[in-house]
Amino acid sequence: RHRIIIDTDPGQDDAVAILLALSSPDEIEVLGITAVAGNVPLALTARNARMICELAGRRDVKVYAGCDRPLGRELVTAEHVHGKSGLDGPDLPEPTMPLQDQHAVDFIIDTLRAEPPGTVTLCPLGPLTNIAMAFEKAPDIMTRVREVVLMGGAYFEVGNITPAAEFNIYVDPQAARIVFKSGAPLVVMPLDVTHKALVTAPRNEAFRALGTPVGIAVAQMTEFFERYDKEKYGSAGAPLHDPCVTAYLLRPDLFTGRQINVEIETGSELTMGMTVADWWRVTDRPANALFMGGIDAPDFFALLTERLARL
Ligand code: BDR
Ligand code: CA
Repeated sequence: RHRIIIDTDPGQDDAVAILLALSSPDEIEVLGITAVAGNVPLALTARNARMICELAGRRDVKVYAGCDRPLGRELVTAEHVHGKSGLDGPDLPEPTMPLQDQHAVDFIIDTLRAEPPGTVTLCPLGPLTNIAMAFEKAPDIMTRVREVVLMGGAYFEVGNITPAAEFNIYVDPQAARIVFKSGAPLVVMPLDVTHKALVTAPRNEAFRALGTPVGIAVAQMTEFFERYDKEKYGSAGAPLHDPCVTAYLLRPDLFTGRQINVEIETGSELTMGMTVADWWRVTDRPANALFMGGIDAPDFFALLTERLARL
């Protein structure tokens, strides 16, 4: 059983990733959800995370607010993709469940110190600010992490926020560099994977046909979120980036990738936040990440629909 902390900036696709985790209590225990500034400012991501817990009927999940800006840069947000609230689409009620008092970074540190080494998995779905801050503040926790399974970066698919960079890494490249150099085992879901996880019209109909508040909200979220990718890239539907992370915990066999070296560009303004992935192993730099490239999309959507039906 995976015991996880979800670090997130919801975001419609973050929301689906959280719902997938909460739908699978036999395989995944969510120790807490930590919010970070990213798609929208922190106040909204902390609110949206709680809205999703309430939608799932899980007011008991502990939600923490973390860093409100990247380590060394101004915050860049993505309202152009996710809408003003970050979660545009469905009409969900304002959350009433509490936000925890503790800072997300301290929650991450305390949890990794309290639990046996090698038992807690970190699942970052946004910029890596909270995770990097925790690693900087408490370097002893880096060897206690079981795995970091994150959505971020790109190689063949290159950029979605600049020509060279993917959004999560671009927003806080310094943080990403710290995480990629931490020595913690990394599993990376780049755009190369997530641009193959597209919510086509029949897949969205399957969500709506669940007829539940969760199924209908997910259909409405993807309908909002797909506009951007359809217009911009001529994509066949919304890419479900972040759910690839939680799906990996349930079904790692759905994904294929390579154990390679990945470095983060933090110097050049032109290629800031680029994930320089040594896919062809042309250097002798040691591998630091399992960098994914392929996904079995039909089985991924079958899993997702079956699990969402349980909520
Ligand atoms: C990533 O950026 C965000 O907009 C999404 O939620 C996802 O985590 C994709 O580049
Ligand atoms: Ca996200």
